[in-house]
Amino acid sequence: MEYFAVQGGVPLEGCAAVHGAKNSALPILAATLLAPGEHIIHNCPDLSDTAAALAILSSLGCRVRREGDTVLVNSTLCQSCGVPDTLMGTMRASVLFLGALLARNGRACACWPGGCALGERPIDLHLRAFQCLGARVQEREGRLCCQGPRLRGCCIQLPFPSVGATENAILAACAAQGYTEILNPARELEIVDLQGFLRSCGAQIWGAGTGRIVVQGGVPLHPGEYSVMPDRIVCATYLCALAAAGGEGEIYAAQAAAVAPVLEALSAAGCQIWETPRGLALRRRGSLWGIGPITTAPYPGFPTDAQPLLAAVLAVGRGESSIRETIFENRFRYACQLRRLGARVRLEGDSAYITGTPLHGALVEAEDLRGGAALTIAALAAQGESRICGLGHIDRGYDRLERALACLGGRIWREED
Ligand code: EPZ
Repeated sequence: MEYFAVQGGVPLEGCAAVHGAKNSALPILAATLLAPGEHIIHNCPDLSDTAAALAILSSLGCRVRREGDTVLVNSTLCQSCGVPDTLMGTMRASVLFLGALLARNGRACACWPGGCALGERPIDLHLRAFQCLGARVQEREGRLCCQGPRLRGCCIQLPFPSVGATENAILAACAAQGYTEILNPARELEIVDLQGFLRSCGAQIWGAGTGRIVVQGGVPLHPGEYSVMPDRIVCATYLCALAAAGGEGEIYAAQAAAVAPVLEALSAAGCQIWETPRGLALRRRGSLWGIGPITTAPYPGFPTDAQPLLAAVLAVGRGESSIRETIFENRFRYACQLRRLGARVRLEGDSAYITGTPLHGALVEAEDLRGGAALTIAALAAQGESRICGLGHIDRGYDRLERALACLGGRIWREED
């Protein structure tokens, strides 16, 4: 079994580059089904989740190949309407193939998606969007079947700005005759990236990143070529590693605007952060101070995916901090493992109350993607040796996290026993 071996308690010094965004690449890969032909996707991160998306495309009849950070997807021969259960269950983003298949073939069948255990994670908003566009949705023995050979444009009012439901609504609306309006959509930067890719395919779509998205559906699409945005949560991960362990480092391809709430929190905790010609730099020499309350919210609020990462930083500082999680009902699972490193974290309802204290090395287990990254960050700050298991979770969203953290000066290796 693979694990990270970490010798913590040493300030970092170095630089690392941010790879392409997982949560942008995944909907873009699904969207390649919308137009037959060979699509070219640059800066596509090499992760187990993107590998799973490519496996789903192959299972549907597409020809896929990776050339470094560029992925080529030829979706000409996609006749299938069903995603294999074994692939559907690997991640949450597999749900996006429902919207893409509905748009391409007028029909989509699959079991329920997988993904990090952050709570119930229903897909009712996705299915309601399909029904609004005229699709018939049936659930039989745990399998979903969506049929919509003639989708028609409509007004989709989302009661909550769900990222995945927004993406699925956009994908299906591209094949719906007439105009579709999506109100109260998610405004995340990854939605803007999906719009950018679809426009490269000739799609008529406006408003991503705002409170109203409009799609003119039924427009014939052609293969696209697009470069995926840098991963803002990977950037936040590297920033939090520097903040927690102390020292100084530079992060290439980092965009300050994409991580503004995280920069604000780390600055308030005592870090110096500035923009450089190649990205961002962070220095932390003195103590980290308590902050709060930090509340997670849909973009442009504090991103829920950075919540565990910031908690790891605040655990090693001084003073009292608090973080309130409003997006997922079970996103503090990492707290129990963080306590094994000596962290003082008290959970009450939707909030975590953290008292900063020096941490010590321990054996810990990642139980979800960002929780695993948080444990790795805390181990870099902890005095002594740590071992982090459960790398399968971490590898879903980070392309060799240990290499990037080693480039930042961390004493971290991937080992196997
Ligand atoms: C996306 O998940 C991201 N995943 C998540 O990143 C991210 O945390 C989340 O958006 C919020 O920003 C991908 O893009 C692959 P939601 P998604 O739909 O689409 C509820 C990571 O670490 N909801 O915005 O699943 C849901 O239960 C991952 O990279 C419904 O009730 O998020 C949750 O409480 C983790 N019904 C809330 O909305 C629905 O139909 C937010 O979910 C859909 C969602």
